[in-house]
Amino acid sequence: MKQTIHRGEILHFPAATSDPAQNHQYLKDGILITENGMITQLLDAQIFLNHLSEEERSCVLPGIIRHEGLLIPGMIDSHVHYPQMEMIASYGTQLLEWLNEYTFPTEAKFCRNDYAAAQSRQFLQQLFAHGTTTASVFATVHPESVNAFFNAAESYQARMICGKVMMDRNCPDNLKDTAETGFTETRQLIEQWHHQGRALYAITPRFAPTSTPEQLAKAGQLAEKYPDTFIQTHLSENVNEIEWVKSLFPECPDYLGVYEKYGLVRERALFGHGIHLEPREYQVLQREQAGVIFCPTSNLFIGSGLFPYFDVKAQNIPVAIASDVGAGTSLSLLTNQAEAYKILQLQQQNLNPLEALYLCTQGAAVTMRLSDKIGNLNPGTEADFVELDFSAFPLLEQRTKQARTFAEKLFALMILGDDRVIRRTYVHGQCVYTRG
Ligand code: GUN
Ligand code: ZN
Repeated sequence: MKQTIHRGEILHFPAATSDPAQNHQYLKDGILITENGMITQLLDAQIFLNHLSEEERSCVLPGIIRHEGLLIPGMIDSHVHYPQMEMIASYGTQLLEWLNEYTFPTEAKFCRNDYAAAQSRQFLQQLFAHGTTTASVFATVHPESVNAFFNAAESYQARMICGKVMMDRNCPDNLKDTAETGFTETRQLIEQWHHQGRALYAITPRFAPTSTPEQLAKAGQLAEKYPDTFIQTHLSENVNEIEWVKSLFPECPDYLGVYEKYGLVRERALFGHGIHLEPREYQVLQREQAGVIFCPTSNLFIGSGLFPYFDVKAQNIPVAIASDVGAGTSLSLLTNQAEAYKILQLQQQNLNPLEALYLCTQGAAVTMRLSDKIGNLNPGTEADFVELDFSAFPLLEQRTKQARTFAEKLFALMILGDDRVIRRTYVHGQCVYTRG
């Protein structure tokens, strides 16, 4: 396959860092070359052009794709529920009632293959339209919902993580598996999908209250047998939930202690929320280098609490920002960054826009142990990237033109922007979305 040359303003974070405001690479006029779905070169346009002979120039220049906007790595949504897309914006409840009232009835529809397939396609198109190219996705309890999702992702060659929800108590009968079926279905799906093309599997016990100790023990056995799979679940989101977990597992020291007991706290374990953690839980997360996923629009929408981002960061715990749709109210990770900024304002702290973007690109990839593949634009990684438009609508255009620094311009984009600012999305080197 021939190479494709992109030219434009480029921003990314080449390495893991605790100070993204300082440690980023910015090219005012850059060249990004892709070949067979991979990034092969990233460099300054003048350097690139100076190295071409006259003859090469006349051959190369006409084929260059010029981008008016800013190229960044495809964003990574490290916690999202695809079956909940259709029940986003459901009124008036907090976590436990919200699950019973809205979530479980919706998820029951995904027993049907055709329904799951149609929703999967639509969800992926929505992700791309919002500038997201990788996500860690909860399906439903039905294995069909995972097959449908991975089949759809494969058709775009998208790097996606997904898992069948394991849930054998405290939920409606039509959404219940058993410790045994949850185990055998998950094992079968791992064998079928993990590392199939760009697919990766996440062992997915929904959260401690909906799994029996037997089921959690079986999930732990799978986590041990397949150490490079992901684990995704929920942790310490809502104060009533935490009390419930304590009553269900009185022998455990705290909420995380439940997952710890069953071997579910390790690298590549992604814990959604973690808002109300205790010091011991921080220590365990730090020791195991398991990730905590900050879900700003969700935490606000279902009234869960204010995530203490800088405390988690200070503990050296891997962290990322995600949408958590359908409790989250936007698939836009820019919108979620803006809400993260406001959540920290309420705690008298400031989130730098470069740090916010890092938490949805390289920082998320580092948390997921995937930064050799995604999350940045380093040569040798996979060619997933997005073009952002600072002039997407008149208000944004006027505001970004007033900006005195690049960080200020990026901040205005983060606060005002959403899917309207995504002009193009590339997955595995191919354009999968063009605005309008
Ligand atoms: N805890 C258990 N299940 C869910 C879910 O679907 N969404 C959120 N936000 N929290 C949960
Ligand atoms: Zn969730």
